Amino acid sequence: MRILAIETSCDETACAVYDPGVGLLAHALFSQIDLHAEYGGVVPELASRDHVRRLLPLVRKVLRESDTPRPDAVAYTAGPGLAGALLVGASTGQALAWGWGVPAVAVHHMEGHLLAPMLESPAPDYPFMALLVSGGHTQLVEVAAPGRYRLLGESLDDAAGEAFDKTAKLLGLGYPGGPAVAQLAQQGRDGVFRFPRPMTDRPGLDFSFSGLKTAVLHAVKSHADDAQTRADIALAFEQAVVETLAIKCRRALEQSGLRRLVVAGGVSANRRLREQLAQLDADLFYPRLEFCTDNAAMIAVAGALRLQAGERAGPQIAVRARWPLAEL
Ligand code: KG4
Ligand code: ZN
Repeated sequence: MRILAIETSCDETACAVYDPGVGLLAHALFSQIDLHAEYGGVVPELASRDHVRRLLPLVRKVLRESDTPRPDAVAYTAGPGLAGALLVGASTGQALAWGWGVPAVAVHHMEGHLLAPMLESPAPDYPFMALLVSGGHTQLVEVAAPGRYRLLGESLDDAAGEAFDKTAKLLGLGYPGGPAVAQLAQQGRDGVFRFPRPMTDRPGLDFSFSGLKTAVLHAVKSHADDAQTRADIALAFEQAVVETLAIKCRRALEQSGLRRLVVAGGVSANRRLREQLAQLDADLFYPRLEFCTDNAAMIAVAGALRLQAGERAGPQIAVRARWPLAEL
């Protein structure tokens, strides 16, 4: 079975062709980073319009590259994300499926991230703990079996990636902020600044990163007139986020008795995070670097799972800007 997958939830237009029995046959992505960079963040209307321009050429490319005249199903991201951007992928996916006379299936973007490590070898066995860290979400999810998720904790305010992006802005760095902050932090001196590890001193698995942003703001305002100090702040910020995530992961593993940890979403590309998590008493599973951030390969994997479970999208074109993973 060959699945065409479409991802347009935010600022990357992506397509993939995947056969669950064989593996990934083709994938392609167009990043809108340059389009949004001058605004310092994603402009939803511009994102939607660009998805319209980019999507069909990408579909043609992956079908051609994988030698697939007609796939057996179409999977598309139906949420969470930017409503207008999602609608481009959903309407195109539904129309293609209808034209080909094949089933369509609506995929949850975070389930895609969560299953991205299934494309690697070794892939994690079930059950496992998952840390999902993206621009919109920070979640700890207990995964008992395919499609069986229990949300154990999440961010009460900013997501980890969002905190990176906002800190980048405060430090005068470009968008997207995560890689830029991580790069600047490499020049930082250890111990010059120390920021709080929010919510680690009380029980529970929720996160809060908005206070950290305020701490960075104060540090920038009172000290950051030179490049070295900005690097010191970037390092202290990255250390605070990464250590906070690691503390909660350790706690989640201890509470659940699980020994496998999947880490996915844009922030899972962060090197310092990977170094810190390597110290946990667990087997770690990451997507390859290019599949940490948004892509369609992960949507194909989640789509395959949903199709195998008999799910089909109805004839209406419905997307959900907000869509709790727990509702799956
Ligand atoms: O998963 P993703 O591509 O999109 C969402 O679903 O949100 O994640 C994007 C987020 C952005 O906030 C970006 O700054 C962050 O992931 N990110 C990173 C790194 N690479 C991307 N954060 C920290 N370190 C990185 N190396
Ligand atoms: Zn994402």
